[in-house]
Amino acid sequence: MAAKSKILIIGGTGYIGKFIVEASFKSGHPTFVLVRQSTASDLAKAKLLESFKNSGCTLLHGDLYDHESLVKAIKQVDVVIATVGLVQKEDQVKIIAAIKEAGNIKRFLPSEFGNDVDRVNVVEPLKSLFASGAKIRRTIEAEGIPYTYVSCNSFAGYVWYLLGILGEPTPPREKISILGDGNPKAVINKEDDIATYTIRAVDDPRTLNKILYVRPPPNILSFNEFIALWENKIGKTLEKIYVPEEQVLKNIKESPAPVNLMLAIYHSIVIQGDQANFEIQPSFGVEASELYPDVKYTTFDEYLNQFV
Ligand SMILES: NC(=O)c1ccc[n+]([C@@H]2O[C@H](COP(=O)([O-])OP(=O)(O)OC[C@H]3O[C@@H](n4cnc5c(N)ncnc54)[C@H](OP(=O)(O)O)[C@@H]3O)[C@@H](O)[C@H]2O)c1
Repeated sequence: MAAKSKILIIGGTGYIGKFIVEASFKSGHPTFVLVRQSTASDLAKAKLLESFKNSGCTLLHGDLYDHESLVKAIKQVDVVIATVGLVQKEDQVKIIAAIKEAGNIKRFLPSEFGNDVDRVNVVEPLKSLFASGAKIRRTIEAEGIPYTYVSCNSFAGYVWYLLGILGEPTPPREKISILGDGNPKAVINKEDDIATYTIRAVDDPRTLNKILYVRPPPNILSFNEFIALWENKIGKTLEKIYVPEEQVLKNIKESPAPVNLMLAIYHSIVIQGDQANFEIQPSFGVEASELYPDVKYTTFDEYLNQFV
């Protein structure tokens, strides 16, 4: 059997990054994490870094904005996974430049982990962000870097956060606001499943130069279906306030940052149905639960049990 690729995670101390680091070392990949000098002085992050070290990960000091440190780190591995945050997506050109200089990378998974940026109908301020994500894709392709784009749709942990824009960021028990009519389908996945699929993909020839969609059938739900699951669990019917799209668009225009951005994300997912309104064609993508049927993912129904 071929040796497992050495993986470098850039952004491993972030929200989704820590799940990916864990999935990487748990599946036996020699795992490297690029860490900024300043991060070790943050108490919570220092604890996380200690747990990475105890699990056998190699911590490499470096920074997205320090080219030499990037090249040095990249030269030690086979695969680079970036999980930098929203604001730094455009700056991934720096990782691309370092990968080109290092010349040894078998696969690059840029920081995406959301909707497919090439198949969305979004409004500002999200439009510009997704356009820069698409630009990063085109640069990777033009440079001939082998890639996999992970389109994992919504993180389960962000669902209540999104709802928080419209009320409390906790599971609602009395009433709930729904953008639009609540009928378009969305996709919600647990973070550790997303990480497991991401790591499965790195050495898989079937995901080479493809988009890996995480769309397990039970997790494709309309907002109305998602609320019905929750109502069923708590044995109560919630009061529902439907907000028409026209009003949502007005709210996006009039809200300050970052609420306008969160509303625009919500608009893309819940009103436009951008996560599930297209077929995955073999020419550009593969679906994770079909590719790895042995992975026992958590359904969103199961995920909700912890909140009852
Ligand atoms: N699908 C969804 O529901 C959803 C939700 C949220 C995010 N996302 C996506 O997931 C991806 C990751 O977002 P996130 O929220 O997990 O990110 P995050 O929590 O903001 O973490 C960002 C990571 O980047 C690191 N970083 C920041 N500046 C750096 C620099 N100059 N050099 C090297 N590393 C640096 C941070 O390190 P420090 O610890 O040193 O700060 C941290 O590890 C993004 O593409 C985002 O759009 C998707």
